[in-house]
Amino acid sequence: MYNLYCRMYQLAYKTAAPFFNWKKPELLEGENSLIKLPPLLKLKGIGSVLIVTDKGIVSVGLLERLLDGLEGKGIDYVVYDETVQNPTIDNIEEAFLLYKETQCHGIIGFGGGSPIDCAKGVAARVARPGKTIPKMKGQLKVRKPTPPLIAIPTTSGTGSEATVAAVISNSETHEKYAINDHVLIPDLAVLDPLLTMKLPAHITSTTGMDALTHAIEAYIGRSNTEETSQCSKEAVQLIFHNLYEAYSNGSNIEARKNMQKASYLAGVAFTRAYVGYVHAIAHTLGGFYSVPHGLANAIILPYVLEYYGESVHQPLAELADIVGITTVDDATSLKAKKFIEAIKKLNRDMNIPNTFDCLMEQDLPIMVDRAFREANPLYPVPKILDKHDLFNLYKMIKA
Ligand SMILES: NC(=O)c1ccc[n+]([C@@H]2O[C@H](COP(=O)([O-])OP(=O)(O)OC[C@H]3O[C@@H](n4cnc5c(N)ncnc54)[C@H](O)[C@@H]3O)[C@@H](O)[C@H]2O)c1
Ligand SMILES: [Fe+2]
Repeated sequence: MYNLYCRMYQLAYKTAAPFFNWKKPELLEGENSLIKLPPLLKLKGIGSVLIVTDKGIVSVGLLERLLDGLEGKGIDYVVYDETVQNPTIDNIEEAFLLYKETQCHGIIGFGGGSPIDCAKGVAARVARPGKTIPKMKGQLKVRKPTPPLIAIPTTSGTGSEATVAAVISNSETHEKYAINDHVLIPDLAVLDPLLTMKLPAHITSTTGMDALTHAIEAYIGRSNTEETSQCSKEAVQLIFHNLYEAYSNGSNIEARKNMQKASYLAGVAFTRAYVGYVHAIAHTLGGFYSVPHGLANAIILPYVLEYYGESVHQPLAELADIVGITTVDDATSLKAKKFIEAIKKLNRDMNIPNTFDCLMEQDLPIMVDRAFREANPLYPVPKILDKHDLFNLYKMIKA
């Protein structure tokens, strides 16, 4: 009965989906495309911007090209660089205050998913100054135009530059949740691979696995469309062919460019087709122990795919074919198994562990509850799991 309720709920969203505004960001793409941004902002009449970033980005000097360009065009800016990994409500409130004090006209999220999501949170607060972040948790609670929102990803993972989501953490309750609204799809995104060249190997690997998780969860879910499936397939292929190279040879610009594209495509796929239990569980690890999001997904992904069993054999077999790890004689179940094995191997090759040693037994009941409520009834997962199943999964991923 509960499963039927979930499926009806998901069907309602799938039926309504074609009527939503699935705008795509205007893209500036390619090597050094960042320098095209300031003249474009000028052209659009945006004279002052809040730049949301983090200390890591500033310390490697990544921001300088942008700041020089803005100064060159006489565009005022103010920088908020206090964003933490798994950005908090406090981050958003501080940056929002800065936005108001300096009377900006646009917001730039510059960094990985954390600064981009923090920028989206500020955009939501500008659109709805009377509504707190917790009040905007969930689906379609913003519904008012935001100021111009620009995303400049420096990791190739979250795809946040293409999505409706801002994933926020509450530092007091350790809850991590999404605000999902079409107004939070950025208006403009800059995909400049030069920005990802200095990404350290362990962040390259884990953020890349986040993108892979988006592509796979969207592909095996029940709300995919022809377009999202195509994006997922392209992303999976690009990731299997480029992630290890980007990890082991960070200066390979082709591999960097392909990972950036894959991350964007996976974002386009999952923003419409949703994610699944991998993300629901990963968010609890981020909220409780600040485990980096990509690392959490990388570890959890093979366990959940195995747990889904037969329900995912067909789509995983299709992805295995695309990656080129099957033979014509392989049965569907064998192809699916090979695909999961290939994910485990990729993790091993990139030194990603296969369990969490931070996971505490006493936290499990709350984590199970939160993961359950995040995923059900919203995520159109291939197989609906109950709390007992989730508990089993937490036991498996615990060191
Ligand atoms: N909105 C969405 O659709 C969406 C989707 C998936 C994940 N997320 C969220 O995004 C966040 C994770 O983002 P992330 O994985 O991109 O990591 P991140 O933004 O947290 O950054 C991780 C670290 O990498 C550093 N870094 C980033 N780019 C760098 C570069 N080019 N060179 C050197 N260092 C660099 C940062 O300073 C930081 O220390 C999580 O909160 C996650 O929940 C959002
Ligand atoms: Fe993710």
